[in-house]
Amino acid sequence: MALTDPRARRRDHRQDDHRSDRHTTADDDVSKRLLESAATLSFDPSTEIDWDAPLPEGHYGLNPEWSTLYGTRLWDEMTERQRVTLTRHEVCSIMNTGIWFEMILQQMVLRDQYLKNPASAEFQFALTEIADECRHSIMFARACEKMGVPAYRPNKLIAQAGRVFKALAKGELAFGGILVAEEVLDVMQRDWMRGENVLEIVRGTSRIHVVEESRHMKFARQEIRERMRHASPARRRASATGIAVGAYVIVTSMVHPGVYRAAGLDVQRALAEVRANEHRKAMMRTSSRHLMAFLAETGLLTGRSAAVYRRVHML
Ligand SMILES: [Fe+2]
Ligand SMILES: [Fe+2]
Repeated sequence: MALTDPRARRRDHRQDDHRSDRHTTADDDVSKRLLESAATLSFDPSTEIDWDAPLPEGHYGLNPEWSTLYGTRLWDEMTERQRVTLTRHEVCSIMNTGIWFEMILQQMVLRDQYLKNPASAEFQFALTEIADECRHSIMFARACEKMGVPAYRPNKLIAQAGRVFKALAKGELAFGGILVAEEVLDVMQRDWMRGENVLEIVRGTSRIHVVEESRHMKFARQEIRERMRHASPARRRASATGIAVGAYVIVTSMVHPGVYRAAGLDVQRALAEVRANEHRKAMMRTSSRHLMAFLAETGLLTGRSAAVYRRVHML
């Protein structure tokens, strides 16, 4: 209702114009600390990763327990060769989703900072984050190229929805979408970077990503808290639903169906086994626990959004 009411829209604009008043010195301190951390611990993947090292044949793309088919009958029937191929395609599909989302994110963060005060720590950290994401996307692109896996892209409808989202989303909706993608990837990558028999190129890129993304997640949480401080219940409910729909799209687009064909599997059977995979559902729930707690704390876990999260086993 509030979104369609022109008076409410005018009120919203006024709130946006005065956002600088609501961004306090304490808020800026968070960004200051993140900037200091970025100055002491950031990586250049072009020199940090050994891009010329050969890929050992038997090494997986990601820890088998993170494979979408792990725990199914089909997984037991697969040869070791097929498992290696599948996990390499799965990790590249997730990295491609990462690139797709990082491009959306960079545009949203840049729009959010348009004509804001360049002297503020918030502005400077936001641009530092964009620079991080730019390096990450190149790093993921090179890793996929090295593994010889072609680009997996979201389907046309989802790709167009992403185009609309990146052009229009703002405030807690934009930062909520960012946080969801970063949190889900973070939990997986913490395992990938330690995974035995996981390709060094995946371990190394995950290590870099986990360190730099922990700052991005802190920034996103801070931005969301600030925006929610004065949000009306109607706006909170609308944003909660929007973020949940974003999460649904991200989670369902992460692994492209083409990965099963690449491993020589029957795609329809593989998709059916993935949908019924209890191990997978448990992994999704565990990796979303922290995110769900934050959304609940900020009032962004409503009845409607919880129903969406349950559908993708994040809750
Ligand atoms: Fe990133
Ligand atoms: Fe990030």
